[in-house]
Amino acid sequence: MTIAFTLLPCYNRSMRKIYLAPLEGVTDSIYRNTFMKYFGGVDKVYTPFISPNSTFKFTTREFKDIDPAKNNVDYTVPQLLTNNSEHFLWAVKEIASLGFKEINFNLGCPSGTVVAKKKGSGLLYYPEELDKMLYEIFEGLPAGVDISIKTRLGKNEPEEFYDILDIYNKYPISELTIHPRIQSDFYREPIKLKFFDYAVEHSKAPLVFNGDIKTVSDIKNIEEKYPSVDALMLGRGLITNPMLALEYKEGLEHTALDLTKFKAFHDELLAQYIDVLSGEKPVLHRMKEFWVHWQSQFADEKAIKKIRQSNRIYEYKDYVNALISSAI
Ligand SMILES: Cc1cc2nc3c(=O)[nH]c(=O)nc-3n(C[C@H](O)[C@H](O)[C@H](O)COP(=O)(O)O)c2cc1C
Repeated sequence: MTIAFTLLPCYNRSMRKIYLAPLEGVTDSIYRNTFMKYFGGVDKVYTPFISPNSTFKFTTREFKDIDPAKNNVDYTVPQLLTNNSEHFLWAVKEIASLGFKEINFNLGCPSGTVVAKKKGSGLLYYPEELDKMLYEIFEGLPAGVDISIKTRLGKNEPEEFYDILDIYNKYPISELTIHPRIQSDFYREPIKLKFFDYAVEHSKAPLVFNGDIKTVSDIKNIEEKYPSVDALMLGRGLITNPMLALEYKEGLEHTALDLTKFKAFHDELLAQYIDVLSGEKPVLHRMKEFWVHWQSQFADEKAIKKIRQSNRIYEYKDYVNALISSAI
């Protein structure tokens, strides 16, 4: 399949950059390309994490997600999750040889199995190991590749962040995205803005704010509170309302979701998953992951329930068509 890549329009310079966050099981290359085709408004998109290991090989699924034939290397940032600098550097060299310019290091994943292996936010609890790993990464880094980091504040206590930031400040990190929660907060507990304030005062790397941005006003609040912060990374808010980044870039406060466009976007996602996944179950599972987010755009809870309970693609399509045509 040939991808017609979307050219990024030049937006007003005073605006903050907006990045599409990585969400495993949601923002794969199919989603990212289809999102850019129908909505966009973002300056970078991140792949969900890839886990390099002692096989020194990407899995087929991982390679699909960084295949330059399926990704625009100019604005796609592959993300790595590992606690081994040799594995990290192997992956960096492979990915850089495909043309990508930036690679992101995941130091935020809160999942129990990941953390138990001292990866993601689990590595934050071992500052000496984190420091050693970053030292080895930056020592071995090929020229011309930027390493950015996506981090939480710590594992058990937000105060861990003071030492963690001292470590980050030793290295030429191209951008530091902070999700101001600790591991045990997962994605629910209130955001700890006080520690983001501390980063604004003390970080040497340019900062990216991430967490709970759902509306244009939320973006503007961050913009006002942190004039020096150049970019925001949006996850669930942007999946729920795929027009959010565009609304901000076009100076609109909020416009109702364009349901005709949303339907075309939905249908194109569905057609692609039918094409690449085998069997109805995996396709429905994939589409239902989106509805976890999309459902709040629709008032008809019964219709949403039918969609989420559908077992066959023809049923699913009927329920989605009925929901959208009744809402138009
Ligand atoms: C289902 C799910 C999967 C995620 N997968 C990843 C991932 O692969 N890499 C990563 O850095 N963050 C991942 N995240 C975290 C998001 O990138 C983001 O930091 C988080 O959702 C908070 O931002 P938001 O409030 O804008 O959604 C995931 C979050 C969710 C809910």
